[in-house]
Amino acid sequence: MKESVHDYSVVRGFAYSALFWLIIGLVVGLWLAAEMFYPRLNLTPWLSFGRLRVVHTNGLAFGFALAGIFSCTYYMLQRLTRTPIAFPRLARFHLYLFNAAIALAALSLFAGMNTSKEYAELEWPLDVVVVIMWVVFAVNVFATLARRREKQMYISLWYIIAMTVTVAVLYIINNLSVPVNLFKSYPIYAGVNDANVQWWYGHNAVGFVFTVPILAMFYYYLPKTVNLPIYSHRLSIISFWSLVFAYLWTGAHHLMLTPVPEWIQTVAIAFSIFLIAPSWGSVVNGYYTMRGNWDLMRTNYLTKFFVVGITFYGLQTIQGPTQGLRTLTAFFHYTDYIVGHVHMGTMGWVTMIISASLYYMVQEMNRTEVYSVRLANLHFYLILAGQLLYTVTMWIAGIQQGAMWKATNPDGSLTYSFIETVASLYPYWKIRFVGGLVYFLGIVVFVYNFVMTGRGSKKSSLDPGMRTA
Ligand code: HEM
Ligand code: HEM
Repeated sequence: MKESVHDYSVVRGFAYSALFWLIIGLVVGLWLAAEMFYPRLNLTPWLSFGRLRVVHTNGLAFGFALAGIFSCTYYMLQRLTRTPIAFPRLARFHLYLFNAAIALAALSLFAGMNTSKEYAELEWPLDVVVVIMWVVFAVNVFATLARRREKQMYISLWYIIAMTVTVAVLYIINNLSVPVNLFKSYPIYAGVNDANVQWWYGHNAVGFVFTVPILAMFYYYLPKTVNLPIYSHRLSIISFWSLVFAYLWTGAHHLMLTPVPEWIQTVAIAFSIFLIAPSWGSVVNGYYTMRGNWDLMRTNYLTKFFVVGITFYGLQTIQGPTQGLRTLTAFFHYTDYIVGHVHMGTMGWVTMIISASLYYMVQEMNRTEVYSVRLANLHFYLILAGQLLYTVTMWIAGIQQGAMWKATNPDGSLTYSFIETVASLYPYWKIRFVGGLVYFLGIVVFVYNFVMTGRGSKKSSLDPGMRTA
């Protein structure tokens, strides 16, 4: 099929949206990080930690990551089905609605409107907009799949289908609520049931936004970049079905040692441990794809984003199941150790795969070469260094925090007051800020390099996968 048949305008639109929300989310993240050791930065209620935190999480998880995911999905869908997007105008509507929804979400969260359910903070009118936006997206996904000219469905398409269906179900069920007015509603669930549904949603929001579609990208763009077939299709299919099956049972590992029935907690632990197998199925598949061609890590600048990215995914999927065990969760829950877990996944795995996929696409769509390989390398090393400084510091801080909370004197009283534990963490929070700054610089380099590549000054007839540097 000829290039011109594909509609890339929406792919570009979402790519630039992802970069925009990434910068906004990170600036807020840096402010937030600084507030932890310099509380005077809570200048107004609009800039208070509680409000900024949700703007940061929503801005990055749903603004940046989802926009990157939509961009890559519209691209992969067309390429893998050898069919143009079924309804291009609907896709453009999706792009505008998405950006309007994120902007309104950020505004309402800044203003303090919040359901107080993590990752489901938006009030009901915005929930309705989100559902419409998702349906518009799903219609295009399934209509394009139905018209596909390629009979075989590559593994990435399965991951895209899983995300499309699951996110819709999770979002609707967890957000069922009774409105009291335009800005306030209450969930239809109460007490333990509410918590259970919330974390069934919360964990799978992580699973089906930060994992499933990112794996779709990994399976598509890694082989394209290195110009080698994926090691095993069978392994990719087995990993896929076992991953999506197991993920949905694990939500209660966020509710360990709470009034949630113990058997539900135990089921969550068992499935969390089980998840190591399908997660590592993908890691191993990636590594074996590189077999005999490891020199590409040096010679093809994009390869390292994918290989190091999947390595962080591998580490993340060992850390996750272990920190969900009863004994360890009793120590680590509420500590910065978990914040370290979150940011190894988001700043390592998610950002590395999305940025490399965007680099690949912009070159392929514009038939250009990357503006600067040196800048792409600088981007890689800065985000790697920033992320490591951030996460390793948070793990150490978390261990100290957990130990101080639990320390007792011979008479059974607590050794440290809560405020002493807070004050002891200031040095770590300062280092975290520096790590965040280094990572942010890497992202600024990325945005510049991407925009310049998009302008297309270096024309090329080669596939990005054939280019080495
Ligand atoms: C086998 C896979 C994984 C398992 C079993 C797992 C397990 C866990 C557990 C038990 C917690 C809660 C810790 C606590 O609050 O005490 C957690 C938190 C979290 N994990 Fe993972 N994790 C996995 C993979 C990932 C991946 C790949 C990401 C991608 C970024 C991720 C992102 C998060 C986030 C964002 C939270 C924070 C949730 C919150 O707001 O409390 N996890 N994970
Ligand atoms: C410059 C880089 C970043 C900085 C300085 C930063 C800073 C922070 C801070 C200070 C918190 C609050 C921690 C707490 O409550 O104790 C946080 C939470 C969070 N951030 Fe970031 N962040 C950065 C990058 C990212 C990225 C790239 C993503 C996603 C793509 C992300 C997603 C999250 C999430 C999901 C949480 C909630 C974690 C939880 O509930 O355990 N962050 N971040």
